Amino acid sequence: MSVLMVAILFSCSENKSTSADTVEEKIDSLLSVMTLEEKIGQTWQVSGTSPEIVQAIRNGGVGSLLNVTDPAELNAMQRLATEESRLGIPLIIGRDVIHGFKTIMPIPLGQAASWDEKMVEAGAAVAAAEARSTGIHWTFAPMLDVSRDARWGRIAESLGEDTYLTGVLGAAMVRGFQGESLSSPTSLAACAKHFAAYGAAEGGRDYNTVDISDATLHNVYLPPFKASADAGAATFMVSFNEISGIPSSGNRELVTDILKQQWAWDGFVVSDWASVMEMIPHGYAEDAAHAAELAMNAGVDMEMQTTAYPVHLKELIEQGIVPMEQLDDAVRRVLRIKFALGLFEDPYADEQVNFDTLPAAHLEVAREMATASLVLLKNEANILPLNVQSTRVAVIGPMADDGYEQLGTWVFDGEERHSVTPLTALRELVGNDRILYEKALAYTRDTDRSSFAKAKRIVLQADAAVIFVGEESILSGEAHSRADITLPGAQAELIREIKSAGKPVVVVVMAGRPLALKEIEPWCDAILYAWHPGTMGGPAIADVLFGESVPSGKLPVSFPAMSGQTPLYYNHKRTGRPADPGNFTYMEDIPVRAFQTSLGNTSHYIDAGYAPLYPFGFGLSYTTFEYNALTCSDSLLTADGTLQVAVKVKNTGQVAGQEVVQLYVHDRVGSLTRPVKELKAYRKILLQPGEEQEVSFGISPEMLAYWYNGEWITEPGEFEIFIGTNIDNVLGCTIRFTE
Ligand code: BGC
Repeated sequence: MSVLMVAILFSCSENKSTSADTVEEKIDSLLSVMTLEEKIGQTWQVSGTSPEIVQAIRNGGVGSLLNVTDPAELNAMQRLATEESRLGIPLIIGRDVIHGFKTIMPIPLGQAASWDEKMVEAGAAVAAAEARSTGIHWTFAPMLDVSRDARWGRIAESLGEDTYLTGVLGAAMVRGFQGESLSSPTSLAACAKHFAAYGAAEGGRDYNTVDISDATLHNVYLPPFKASADAGAATFMVSFNEISGIPSSGNRELVTDILKQQWAWDGFVVSDWASVMEMIPHGYAEDAAHAAELAMNAGVDMEMQTTAYPVHLKELIEQGIVPMEQLDDAVRRVLRIKFALGLFEDPYADEQVNFDTLPAAHLEVAREMATASLVLLKNEANILPLNVQSTRVAVIGPMADDGYEQLGTWVFDGEERHSVTPLTALRELVGNDRILYEKALAYTRDTDRSSFAKAKRIVLQADAAVIFVGEESILSGEAHSRADITLPGAQAELIREIKSAGKPVVVVVMAGRPLALKEIEPWCDAILYAWHPGTMGGPAIADVLFGESVPSGKLPVSFPAMSGQTPLYYNHKRTGRPADPGNFTYMEDIPVRAFQTSLGNTSHYIDAGYAPLYPFGFGLSYTTFEYNALTCSDSLLTADGTLQVAVKVKNTGQVAGQEVVQLYVHDRVGSLTRPVKELKAYRKILLQPGEEQEVSFGISPEMLAYWYNGEWITEPGEFEIFIGTNIDNVLGCTIRFTE
């Protein structure tokens, strides 16, 4: 550390604790001696270690690096920053540690299917411990973009379509990454991204325009970010998109007024990769200098990768176009997180760290998480679980034994060699001789059908076929949107071909998004949705197939029957002509030259209806649950009151199972029209066979509130309260709210 820095830190910390005041005093002292160039340096993040970057670090001209992962190299860069730069301010090292570092958890969308915040928190804690040991301090996660469109590739990284569930699980990830203290050697600073409404890209096409109302922004897209800010997320990342004409990187109302002022949040905001400069192609900034001005004045504290800040801020400050106070605030925020991370004491990596074998405890978390993420969508005649003692299984398909593809998108550091595939796990569980295997297609997009006959032959020798299909990792994630979200390649034909062998067919889908399964659904006796399940996906799937564990996942997204139904989400508005199952005609039933108004004038598609194939919150178990006797402690709720709504849930099957009891509300009449249902609470419970439990929820006026014209209001009137096992299967009661 430089002599000057030691003097500054020492003068501030003498006889004082490391309280927030002391940190702010240290920052004041630092700011008072920093040159303009050094301040600007703190606002620049860059990828790599080129000679120019090395020199810039020496000059105090870089605040952060990303995508440098060799611990020895990182230590060398830190030494340059702390020992050779004038002030010795350490670098903060960022990395996309999205769903695991070396031990890969299921993709976030799969994690969301667990509806289990403790488990999600534990998964993030594992990722943080592994990454921090290598000198990474900061992850660009969680992604909190409410995702209503399955075409959008980044739905894989999301926590699904629901505002409340995304908020709860996102906050759990923040807690998991950040732990008790950011300065712990097992913690990472979290980054709530992408602020905001990135998931509302038109047509589900990545980076596309977002044009939504203020009410939709505040009611649907912002609350998960508020939840993560409240959970103490150290940083935020702005999104690539514009919202109604204003790119987030230049949106002062969003970044400064809402996040920093209204929410009183004191972390720092980073741009997305090149998003400051991308305001030029957006048509919002004239040139790089204008982009720097717009972004810094909006409150974007650090620029990722491009050079608008390092090249132009000096002049903008000197000309008074960007106020010095704005830059000082940005630097203060960056330094605050560097202090919180303990980087001034120890910014270094453990150069001995080695991931040849992953810690057993980490693999156990990954396995439990993968198990909890599996959603059983169909189980005709209880074909699952298979009999572990006797069933001979033909394992087919491109995803059965592909340790790379099961990891999913955004796996920069995970390694295929650690993956346990379903084929390996099945062989281990039931023995080699009862598992026959034919890949049939080399990869999911493959259209070469030449091995189908061989696959069918082995199915004839088995009691059942288990077909592993889906999407390769590269088919979802950033910039990987699809217009047709059916199974790629010849996979549907493979399933049909195998079905024709006459044996029971179990299909396991491993994918980064909800796929439209209408075509293949009739050919499947059972469907298990496994997302991209991560390192330990194989054992988790094998256990569920053979009843060693009981599926409990519930869908965090609606599953469209057909691609053209997207965007499809459960908490839509009613419209003036809600779809009515008894009052519309499918295309094939429309008589030739039928009269125009004979089709039922309601909101539906004549070829796809209106309903999802599988609704939000849906997921089967190996047992059954019965919901009874919904009771409400009062039918009147007052402004300062709460009331209790309770339901009895009974396990009516033969095995113990977990159930996610879901509570939804509907505001019948509002100053703005309200969604048909909105998730407001849930509880995950374990019930033994025959056991019954009463599950009760408190209803408060805040749970019934929505954003309208700049404030959160609960309007007097009738509200329906629903409790059930998924969005379509609920019991309900009506209450009245009065002020
Ligand atoms: C993505 C971010 C990511 C960043 C850094 C961008 O392209 O949108 O989510 O954190 O790159 O890799």
